[in-house]
Amino acid sequence: TLDITALQEEILRLKAERNALILAHNYQLPEVQDIADVLGDSLALARAAARTDADVIVFCGVHFMAETAAILNPDKVVLLPDLEAGCSLADSITADELRAWKAEHPGAVVVAYVNTSAEVKAESDYCCTSSNAVQVVQAIPEDKEILFLPDMFLGSYVQRVTGRKNMHIWMGECHVHAGIQPLQVQTVVKEHPRAELLVHPECGCSTSNMMLVAEGVLPAERTKILSTGGMLQHARQSQAEEFVVATEVGILHQMEKQNPGKRFIPANPDAVCPFMKKITLAKVRDALRENKHVITVPADIAARARTAIERMIAIG
Ligand code: 13P
Ligand code: SF4
Repeated sequence: TLDITALQEEILRLKAERNALILAHNYQLPEVQDIADVLGDSLALARAAARTDADVIVFCGVHFMAETAAILNPDKVVLLPDLEAGCSLADSITADELRAWKAEHPGAVVVAYVNTSAEVKAESDYCCTSSNAVQVVQAIPEDKEILFLPDMFLGSYVQRVTGRKNMHIWMGECHVHAGIQPLQVQTVVKEHPRAELLVHPECGCSTSNMMLVAEGVLPAERTKILSTGGMLQHARQSQAEEFVVATEVGILHQMEKQNPGKRFIPANPDAVCPFMKKITLAKVRDALRENKHVITVPADIAARARTAIERMIAIG
């Protein structure tokens, strides 16, 4: 802890020297969460990046998040403390694959989850995150065919909620969320009969849980499908004292910090994103000290991706 405190103090000093803003995703290591200026879900962080007047943005998250911040801030320095902080979901579709898919559906509107590369965003009409995907799809005229990518579970969740028929869904998944099995969730919920169940829509179990809710296996009034930011907000407002949490376990730190006295139980304690955990305090310090790793997006790609990102920021 001495090391942690010393590193945190050094980071705060460097941050002030460089007029930097530290953004951290809810899945970051606890000690990294604790030094963030803004901690949030993907949408909150993109919005924070869009409105800052800092000179430097240090993104404690994964590569596509830093790219999104760089697209919104072509004149600022955007740093990602470890270039290996990627995302298996973002890697599940390339720009070439998207171009081929679009060619099969001329005139379709492309909705890309923010978990995509800048090149894929440049081929897309709208971006969305898990907190506004439903509203983004609802903003598209009924007669337009939609190509939704790359997450199949978020896609089928949105399709169920909106009742949208003319929506095609790419078959990608986040390996961390897909690893939270419906049976596992059911078992943990049974062990905690008074707990609320918070499920991220990237979970395979989000779709099967909706069926289980419909069939009465899971309690409808106690099951909520939410983004990470939505989960935190719900946990603060809810009268419940126990919560089963079906998402990456990094979020538990914030849940516990914000809600002393309430109990948070991971649906799967092994749901750990190895990419998010690449970011350590030492790497954040080095990022600020040595100005690395600067994330840039070629101007032509950024220009084409910006419209889709700005639509995302405006909706929901
Ligand atoms: P949100 O924080 O936007 O819910 O996203 C979850 C996620 O997997 C980010 O990579
Ligand atoms: Fe990507 Fe999944 Fe990790 Fe989020 S949790 S960064 S979607 S691999």
